[in-house]
Amino acid sequence: MLLRARNPYNAAMHRIPVDLASRAYEIFIGAGLLPRVGEFVAPLRPTSIHVVCTEVVAPLYAQTVVDSCKAVAPTHLCTIPDGESVKDLGTVSRVLDALVAARADRRSVLVALGGGVLGDIAGFAASVYMRGIRFVQVPTTLLAQVDSSVGGKTGVNHPGGKNLIGAFHQPSAVVSDPDVLRTLPPREVRAGIAEVLKHGLLADREYFDATVAALPRLLDGDGEAIAEAVAGSCRIKAAVVGRDERESGDRALLNLGHTFGHAIEVLTGYGTWLHGEAVACGLCLAADLSQGLGLIGRDAVDEVAAAVVKAGLPARIPGISCAAAMESMRSDKKAFAGKIDFVVLERIGQAVRRQAPDDLVEATLRGGGFV
Ligand SMILES: NC(=O)c1ccc[n+]([C@@H]2O[C@H](COP(=O)([O-])OP(=O)(O)OC[C@H]3O[C@@H](n4cnc5c(N)ncnc54)[C@H](O)[C@@H]3O)[C@@H](O)[C@H]2O)c1
Ligand SMILES: [Zn+2]
Repeated sequence: MLLRARNPYNAAMHRIPVDLASRAYEIFIGAGLLPRVGEFVAPLRPTSIHVVCTEVVAPLYAQTVVDSCKAVAPTHLCTIPDGESVKDLGTVSRVLDALVAARADRRSVLVALGGGVLGDIAGFAASVYMRGIRFVQVPTTLLAQVDSSVGGKTGVNHPGGKNLIGAFHQPSAVVSDPDVLRTLPPREVRAGIAEVLKHGLLADREYFDATVAALPRLLDGDGEAIAEAVAGSCRIKAAVVGRDERESGDRALLNLGHTFGHAIEVLTGYGTWLHGEAVACGLCLAADLSQGLGLIGRDAVDEVAAAVVKAGLPARIPGISCAAAMESMRSDKKAFAGKIDFVVLERIGQAVRRQAPDDLVEATLRGGGFV
């Protein structure tokens, strides 16, 4: 449902619709929105509100959100452990236990307050509790604000693979406050910028150029520059998801840099490189492969690498086994019958899907320092 609030929302706020027929919702972006989360939950008329948060984010922001929700409906806080290593069914169970204990019903609303890991876990819990209750995303990392909170993909990891267990479950609203990024470690900010660069590269040359020009301000934590980047990325992602909610076509373009990136994450062990760092390197490899396929010139490949370096992200992660990377990419859940579907660049600002011959992919990996 689209929120029709009695809204005193301020003019500086960006509102971006995600156009999905009966599941349409809006993304609200603006400084100072965190203490007002309740105003965005209120139009959903919840019987109770369940704020889910991690041990790291709870001491920083949970009380503010709980206080603003209390004015709307009885509010409960559920705190879970932090980090990619607990993104599993066990942690989903803990959230479900908390919902049962607090007697959440079908008209309750879950508020997912945290980074991409928390959003994926809490969103999945919302998708299965009583066959699906509504939830609101309140992302607190740049990566979650520009990417994971939008689009309705929820889920957790399995020892057999990342994000293997999940569901599509669209939030009822997304509320992003750039102020909360002030406490985010700089490395996490840079990791989020990788996804911002990705959005420009795959869909919008002008946005890519604007992002590269704004990099010093983004790295400096300039609130206005961050709000623009979040809004720009959400517009691109919302448009793609609006065309293809369940990834039967265009949505796969959002995986630019991710086939390589996931292989890097798996082979170096989750946590060595942050997701965004692996993706940044993956963007450079995807650009190189695009050149190998004759789609773009060397100048464009260099431009991608220069942007990644300017953002303080790794353009090369050398020393990974080339054979293991090929194997890992073939078993990625996005591969079918062992054939890897790559997302490559037709030009900066336009991605396409292509299959590439193994020798070309290997040449790209070796050029990128794989051994
Ligand atoms: N659902 C999707 O469409 C989608 C898209 C992209 C990524 N993802 C998932 O997102 C996850 C990565 O998300 P992430 O990069 O946000 O990591 P994360 O959620 O682990 O957050 C990174 C770290 O920052 C901390 N943190 C969060 N907000 C903070 C704040 N405001 N101040 C200080 N510390 C804060 C977290 O507690 C954590 O320790 C991955 O699991 C990935 O699979 C999902
Ligand atoms: Zn990503």
